[in-house]
Amino acid sequence: MATVAVYPGSFDPLTNGHVDIITRGARLFDRIIVAILVNAEKSPLFSMAERIEIARAVFKNHPNVEIDTFDGLLVDYVARRKANVIVRGLRAVSDFEYEFQMALMNRELASTIETVFMMPAVQYSYISSRLIKEVFSLGGRVHGLVPELVEARLRDKQTAKV
Ligand code: PNS
Repeated sequence: MATVAVYPGSFDPLTNGHVDIITRGARLFDRIIVAILVNAEKSPLFSMAERIEIARAVFKNHPNVEIDTFDGLLVDYVARRKANVIVRGLRAVSDFEYEFQMALMNRELASTIETVFMMPAVQYSYISSRLIKEVFSLGGRVHGLVPELVEARLRDKQTAKV
């Protein structure tokens, strides 16, 4: 039986930490579906169409990486996609409590779906989408922390504002 994993999140925007986890997941599982949550935030910086386009462009040479969207309960989406694993990245101890609660709640809801935690490379262990947006909006450098396409799109958004 093929092992299909779902890697859910907001990806607003995709960071090199996410890219690292997806790349590792693509080596470990037969297929990994990057599932972008619809309506996670009322006013995301990147529209859903942009987030899909960016992720598809970054993983265009990875045939076993699929980009999709979902809403509603994650476990329902995972079952619908006939997947058996939820992948979540763990950066630091501070992530653990929230992730632990989610993993056990998801197990309560769907006992056959297993959550697998993966650690990103250490150089990405402090990166979050929230910090990327904050640092960039205040004039800080995010080069090397996000895919080049994300950096370019951040610049476009800044230019469009002035
Ligand atoms: O990486 P993020 O943006 O914090 O992802 C959070 C996400 C999408 C994994 C979580 O919010 C989620 O699963 N939402 C879907 C609704 C759901 O199933 N909630 C119960 C989770 S225990």
